Amino acid sequence: MPDAMVKFAADTAREAGEILMRHFGSVRSGTAKNQRGDMVTQADLESESHIIGRIREAHPDHRILAEESGLLDIAEGDCTWIIDPLDGTKNFTLGIPFFCVSIGVLCGKRLVAGVVYDPIHDDMFYAVEGAGAYLNGSPIHVSDQTDIGLMVVNLAWSLNEWEGGDFSRYAVGIVDRTNYFRRLGSAALVKSYVAVGRLDAAVSVQLKPWDVAAATLIVREAGGVVTDFQGKSPDLLRESQDIIAANPILHEKIVREIFDG
Ligand code: IPD
Ligand code: CA
Ligand code: CA
Repeated sequence: MPDAMVKFAADTAREAGEILMRHFGSVRSGTAKNQRGDMVTQADLESESHIIGRIREAHPDHRILAEESGLLDIAEGDCTWIIDPLDGTKNFTLGIPFFCVSIGVLCGKRLVAGVVYDPIHDDMFYAVEGAGAYLNGSPIHVSDQTDIGLMVVNLAWSLNEWEGGDFSRYAVGIVDRTNYFRRLGSAALVKSYVAVGRLDAAVSVQLKPWDVAAATLIVREAGGVVTDFQGKSPDLLRESQDIIAANPILHEKIVREIFDG
Protein backbone atom coordinates (compact mmCIF):
# COMPACT_ATOMS: atom_id res chain seq x y z
CA MET A 1 0.00 0.00 0.00
CA PRO A 2 2.68 2.64 0.75
CA ASP A 3 4.12 2.03 -2.75
CA ALA A 4 0.74 2.80 -4.30
CA MET A 5 0.33 5.74 -1.93
CA VAL A 6 3.65 7.27 -2.91
CA LYS A 7 2.89 6.92 -6.61
CA PHE A 8 -0.49 8.52 -6.10
CA ALA A 9 1.07 11.28 -3.94
CA ALA A 10 3.73 11.95 -6.59
CA ASP A 11 1.15 12.17 -9.39
CA THR A 12 -0.95 14.50 -7.27
CA ALA A 13 2.03 16.68 -6.28
CA ARG A 14 3.02 16.97 -9.95
CA GLU A 15 -0.50 18.14 -10.85
CA ALA A 16 -0.40 20.65 -7.99
CA GLY A 17 3.00 21.80 -9.23
CA GLU A 18 1.48 22.48 -12.65
CA ILE A 19 -1.13 24.67 -10.95
CA LEU A 20 1.63 26.58 -9.15
CA MET A 21 3.58 27.08 -12.37
CA ARG A 22 0.53 28.60 -14.06
CA HIS A 23 0.58 31.30 -11.38
CA PHE A 24 4.34 31.70 -10.86
CA GLY A 25 5.48 35.11 -12.03
CA SER A 26 2.00 36.65 -12.03
CA VAL A 27 0.87 36.16 -8.41
CA ARG A 28 2.80 38.83 -6.54
CA SER A 29 0.79 39.11 -3.35
CA GLY A 30 -1.88 37.43 -1.29
CA THR A 31 -3.91 37.84 1.87
CA ALA A 32 -2.06 38.15 5.16
CA LYS A 33 -2.88 35.18 7.41
CA ASN A 34 -1.31 36.37 10.64
CA GLN A 35 0.66 39.15 12.30
CA ARG A 36 3.93 37.60 11.17
CA GLY A 37 2.97 38.56 7.61
CA ASP A 38 2.52 35.01 6.28
CA MET A 39 0.44 35.15 3.12
CA VAL A 40 -1.96 32.89 1.35
CA THR A 41 -2.30 33.34 -2.40
CA GLN A 42 -4.65 32.08 -5.08
CA ALA A 43 -1.94 29.57 -5.99
CA ASP A 44 -1.84 28.08 -2.45
CA LEU A 45 -5.63 27.72 -2.44
CA GLU A 46 -5.96 26.17 -5.90
CA SER A 47 -3.13 23.75 -5.26
CA GLU A 48 -4.58 22.67 -1.91
CA SER A 49 -8.09 22.28 -3.26
CA HIS A 50 -6.80 20.07 -6.08
CA ILE A 51 -4.79 17.86 -3.69
CA ILE A 52 -7.67 17.49 -1.25
CA GLY A 53 -10.08 16.59 -4.07
CA ARG A 54 -7.74 13.86 -5.33
CA ILE A 55 -7.21 12.37 -1.86
CA ARG A 56 -10.91 12.38 -1.07
CA GLU A 57 -11.61 10.44 -4.27
CA ALA A 58 -8.82 7.92 -3.77
CA HIS A 59 -8.87 7.53 0.03
CA PRO A 60 -12.26 8.64 1.38
CA ASP A 61 -11.58 6.93 4.72
CA HIS A 62 -8.32 8.82 5.40
CA ARG A 63 -7.93 12.03 7.36
CA ILE A 64 -6.48 15.17 5.79
CA LEU A 65 -4.43 17.86 7.53
CA ALA A 66 -3.77 20.71 5.10
CA GLU A 67 -2.15 24.07 5.81
CA GLU A 68 -4.91 26.31 4.52
CA SER A 69 -7.87 24.10 5.52
CA GLY A 70 -6.71 22.57 8.81
CA LEU A 71 -7.77 19.09 9.92
CA LEU A 72 -10.67 18.31 7.63
CA ASP A 73 -12.41 15.46 9.34
CA ILE A 74 -11.88 12.66 11.75
CA ALA A 75 -12.48 9.73 9.44
CA GLU A 76 -12.41 6.16 10.70
CA GLY A 77 -9.09 5.40 9.05
CA ASP A 78 -5.81 5.56 10.88
CA CYS A 79 -3.94 7.44 8.14
CA THR A 80 -3.58 11.21 7.85
CA TRP A 81 -2.37 13.01 4.72
CA ILE A 82 -0.35 16.06 5.74
CA ILE A 83 -0.20 18.67 3.00
CA ASP A 84 1.61 21.88 2.26
CA PRO A 85 0.20 22.99 -1.11
CA LEU A 86 2.93 25.61 -1.57
CA ASP A 87 5.90 25.65 0.76
CA GLY A 88 7.84 28.85 0.16
CA THR A 89 4.98 31.25 -0.55
CA LYS A 90 7.17 34.28 0.12
CA ASN A 91 9.71 33.13 -2.48
CA PHE A 92 6.83 32.38 -4.86
CA THR A 93 5.40 35.91 -4.65
CA LEU A 94 8.86 37.43 -5.09
CA GLY A 95 9.55 35.40 -8.21
CA ILE A 96 12.31 33.43 -6.45
CA PRO A 97 12.32 29.91 -7.94
CA PHE A 98 12.61 27.93 -4.72
CA PHE A 99 9.35 26.41 -3.48
CA CYS A 100 7.60 23.04 -3.49
CA VAL A 101 4.52 20.93 -2.86
CA SER A 102 4.78 18.60 0.14
CA ILE A 103 2.57 15.57 0.84
CA GLY A 104 3.27 13.14 3.68
CA VAL A 105 1.25 10.18 4.97
CA LEU A 106 1.20 9.31 8.64
CA CYS A 107 -0.47 6.02 9.62
CA GLY A 108 -0.74 5.69 13.38
CA LYS A 109 2.58 7.10 14.51
CA ARG A 110 4.50 5.94 11.45
CA LEU A 111 5.38 8.00 8.42
CA VAL A 112 4.75 5.61 5.57
CA ALA A 113 5.14 7.77 2.46
CA GLY A 114 6.42 11.23 1.62
CA VAL A 115 6.72 13.33 -1.52
CA VAL A 116 8.29 16.76 -2.03
CA TYR A 117 7.98 18.17 -5.55
CA ASP A 118 9.87 21.19 -6.89
CA PRO A 119 8.07 22.15 -10.11
CA ILE A 120 10.72 24.65 -11.23
CA HIS A 121 13.42 22.00 -11.54
CA ASP A 122 11.02 19.08 -12.00
CA ASP A 123 12.64 17.47 -8.96
CA MET A 124 10.48 14.76 -7.39
CA PHE A 125 11.83 13.64 -4.02
CA TYR A 126 10.03 10.69 -2.47
CA ALA A 127 10.35 7.93 0.09
CA VAL A 128 8.48 4.89 1.28
CA GLU A 129 9.02 3.65 4.82
CA GLY A 130 11.75 1.01 4.79
CA ALA A 131 12.37 1.29 1.03
CA GLY A 132 14.82 4.19 0.71
CA ALA A 133 14.59 7.72 -0.65
CA TYR A 134 14.73 8.78 -4.29
CA LEU A 135 15.07 11.82 -6.50
CA ASN A 136 13.47 11.35 -9.93
CA GLY A 137 13.83 7.59 -9.59
CA SER A 138 17.47 7.46 -8.43
CA PRO A 139 18.39 6.54 -4.84
CA ILE A 140 19.64 9.45 -2.73
CA HIS A 141 21.78 9.71 0.37
CA VAL A 142 22.65 12.41 2.88
CA SER A 143 26.15 13.93 2.67
CA ASP A 144 29.11 12.50 4.56
CA GLN A 145 30.30 15.87 5.88
CA THR A 146 31.04 15.50 9.60
CA ASP A 147 32.91 18.76 10.24
CA ILE A 148 30.72 21.51 11.71
CA GLY A 149 33.24 24.07 10.44
CA LEU A 150 32.76 22.95 6.85
CA MET A 151 29.07 22.06 6.85
CA VAL A 152 26.64 23.88 4.58
CA VAL A 153 23.69 24.49 6.88
CA ASN A 154 20.32 26.07 6.26
CA LEU A 155 19.34 28.06 9.33
CA ALA A 156 15.73 29.27 9.51
CA TRP A 157 14.43 31.25 12.40
CA SER A 158 12.68 34.54 13.05
CA LEU A 159 13.63 36.83 15.86
CA ASN A 160 11.49 36.75 19.01
CA GLU A 161 9.53 33.81 17.80
CA TRP A 162 10.95 30.84 19.56
CA GLU A 163 8.90 29.24 22.34
CA GLY A 164 12.16 28.08 23.93
CA GLY A 165 13.32 31.66 24.64
CA ASP A 166 16.07 33.58 22.92
CA PHE A 167 17.25 31.57 19.93
CA SER A 168 19.88 34.09 18.88
CA ARG A 169 22.68 32.55 20.92
CA TYR A 170 22.22 29.25 19.11
CA ALA A 171 21.99 31.04 15.77
CA VAL A 172 25.19 32.92 16.50
CA GLY A 173 26.72 29.62 17.65
CA ILE A 174 25.96 28.09 14.26
CA VAL A 175 26.95 31.10 12.17
CA ASP A 176 30.20 31.47 14.14
CA ARG A 177 31.17 27.88 13.46
CA THR A 178 30.63 27.60 9.72
CA ASN A 179 31.34 29.77 6.70
CA TYR A 180 28.45 28.30 4.79
CA PHE A 181 25.03 29.11 6.10
CA ARG A 182 21.90 29.65 4.01
CA ARG A 183 18.25 30.67 4.49
CA LEU A 184 16.59 29.34 1.36
CA GLY A 185 12.93 29.82 2.33
CA SER A 186 11.13 26.50 1.83
CA ALA A 187 11.40 24.18 4.82
CA ALA A 188 10.35 20.98 3.05
CA LEU A 189 12.60 21.57 0.04
CA VAL A 190 15.52 22.48 2.28
CA LYS A 191 15.20 19.15 4.12
CA SER A 192 14.95 17.33 0.80
CA TYR A 193 18.23 19.04 -0.15
CA VAL A 194 19.72 17.55 3.02
CA ALA A 195 18.43 14.15 1.93
CA VAL A 196 20.23 14.40 -1.42
CA GLY A 197 23.41 15.93 0.07
CA ARG A 198 23.11 19.37 -1.55
CA LEU A 199 23.00 20.74 2.00
CA ASP A 200 24.71 19.04 4.92
CA ALA A 201 22.27 20.13 7.61
CA ALA A 202 19.11 22.09 8.33
CA VAL A 203 18.22 23.79 11.61
CA SER A 204 14.70 25.23 11.71
CA VAL A 205 12.60 26.83 14.40
CA GLN A 206 8.85 26.51 14.88
CA LEU A 207 7.86 24.61 11.81
CA LYS A 208 4.38 23.20 11.27
CA PRO A 209 3.44 19.56 10.63
CA TRP A 210 3.09 20.20 6.86
CA ASP A 211 6.60 21.70 6.72
CA VAL A 212 8.04 18.60 8.33
CA ALA A 213 6.10 15.39 7.61
CA ALA A 214 7.05 14.32 4.07
CA ALA A 215 10.64 15.55 4.19
CA THR A 216 11.30 13.87 7.54
CA LEU A 217 10.67 10.47 5.96
CA ILE A 218 12.75 11.42 2.91
CA VAL A 219 15.73 12.44 5.10
CA ARG A 220 15.47 9.32 7.27
CA GLU A 221 15.19 6.99 4.31
CA ALA A 222 18.24 8.77 2.82
CA GLY A 223 20.25 7.76 5.90
CA GLY A 224 19.83 10.98 7.86
CA VAL A 225 18.45 11.84 11.29
CA VAL A 226 15.64 14.30 12.05
CA THR A 227 14.98 15.35 15.64
CA ASP A 228 14.16 18.32 17.82
CA PHE A 229 16.95 20.33 19.48
CA GLN A 230 17.18 17.81 22.32
CA GLY A 231 17.74 14.96 19.89
CA LYS A 232 14.23 13.53 20.32
CA SER A 233 12.08 12.33 17.47
CA PRO A 234 9.53 14.99 16.53
CA ASP A 235 5.83 14.50 17.24
CA LEU A 236 4.63 15.09 13.70
CA LEU A 237 1.19 16.37 14.58
CA ARG A 238 2.48 18.92 17.07
CA GLU A 239 1.56 22.54 16.30
CA SER A 240 5.15 23.78 16.43
CA GLN A 241 8.35 21.86 15.76
CA ASP A 242 12.03 22.70 16.08
CA ILE A 243 14.07 20.53 13.75
CA ILE A 244 17.65 19.45 13.14
CA ALA A 245 18.25 17.31 10.04
CA ALA A 246 21.67 15.95 9.05
CA ASN A 247 23.70 12.78 8.66
CA PRO A 248 23.98 10.87 11.97
CA ILE A 249 27.49 12.02 12.94
CA LEU A 250 26.96 15.68 12.07
CA HIS A 251 23.53 15.62 13.68
CA GLU A 252 24.96 14.31 16.95
CA LYS A 253 27.65 17.02 16.91
CA ILE A 254 25.09 19.80 16.28
CA VAL A 255 22.90 18.59 19.17
CA ARG A 256 25.87 18.27 21.54
CA GLU A 257 28.11 21.17 20.55
CA ILE A 258 25.53 23.80 19.54
CA PHE A 259 22.46 22.91 21.61
CA ASP A 260 24.33 21.56 24.66
CA GLY A 261 22.30 18.32 24.37
C1 IPD B 1 7.31 28.64 5.42
C2 IPD B 1 8.61 28.26 4.75
C3 IPD B 1 9.79 28.90 5.44
C4 IPD B 1 9.83 28.55 6.93
C5 IPD B 1 8.52 28.98 7.59
C6 IPD B 1 7.34 28.30 6.88
P1 IPD B 1 5.13 28.60 3.86
O1 IPD B 1 6.23 27.93 4.84
O2 IPD B 1 8.82 26.87 4.76
O3 IPD B 1 11.00 28.47 4.87
O4 IPD B 1 10.90 29.19 7.56
O5 IPD B 1 8.55 28.60 8.97
O6 IPD B 1 6.15 28.72 7.49
O7 IPD B 1 4.34 29.57 4.69
O8 IPD B 1 5.82 29.22 2.73
O9 IPD B 1 4.31 27.39 3.47
CA1 CA C 1 5.26 25.66 4.72
CA1 CA D 1 2.40 26.78 2.56
